[in-house]
Amino acid sequence: MSFRIIPMTADHVSQVAALEQVCFPADPWSGELFRAALENPRVCPLLAQGEDGGVLGYAVLSVVLDEGSLDNIAVSPDVRRNGVADALLSALTGFGRGRLSVLMLEVRASNAPAIALYEKHGFAAVGRRKNYYDAPKEDAILMTLEFKHGITAAE
Ligand SMILES: CC(C)(COP(=O)(O)OP(=O)(O)OC[C@H]1O[C@@H](n2cnc3c(N)ncnc32)[C@H](O)[C@@H]1OP(=O)(O)O)[C@@H](O)C(=O)NCCC(=O)NCCS
Repeated sequence: MSFRIIPMTADHVSQVAALEQVCFPADPWSGELFRAALENPRVCPLLAQGEDGGVLGYAVLSVVLDEGSLDNIAVSPDVRRNGVADALLSALTGFGRGRLSVLMLEVRASNAPAIALYEKHGFAAVGRRKNYYDAPKEDAILMTLEFKHGITAAE
């Protein structure tokens, strides 16, 4: 399957928000939230775009000082297990390497595919937030990926 990773733009928001509702029906980000992310210079929203221009997946990283947070990642159900999330996450960890000291995220304790994805990319579980999610109520696992070289005085 052929796709490319590109920056998300305002033109993609309606497709992204529609896919978000499919992937997170209980608590989807709104189109407004994605638009706000696009306007925030501390946020890096990426898109996986198929050959026909369609949105296959997306990921959103936000940065505060030298810490990054993976705020969202999702792939269309009909193209899962084709390396789309791998490519999105590789792009974001590549961005973080050399710029950030750590990348953090929260994931539902039952979300085995996502946890496997994060572990594959070097994230490790470092904590648990009790009853963090609603609908259904569930714990969050906190995971971090620490970069050996964060921001140095010379940068
Ligand atoms: C999690 C998700 C983003 C993975 O997307 P994907 O494009 O199918 O993932 P990839 O094909 O790139 O797989 C990369 C790795 O993730 C893991 N993985 C993905 N899906 C998996 C599954 N169903 N079972 C086990 N491991 C899985 C594997 O480690 C895989 O590597 P491998 O192919 O070498 O085994 C996708 O399932 C999704 O959108 N889920 C709903 C939204 C969501 O839960 N997002 C995360 C919120 S914290």
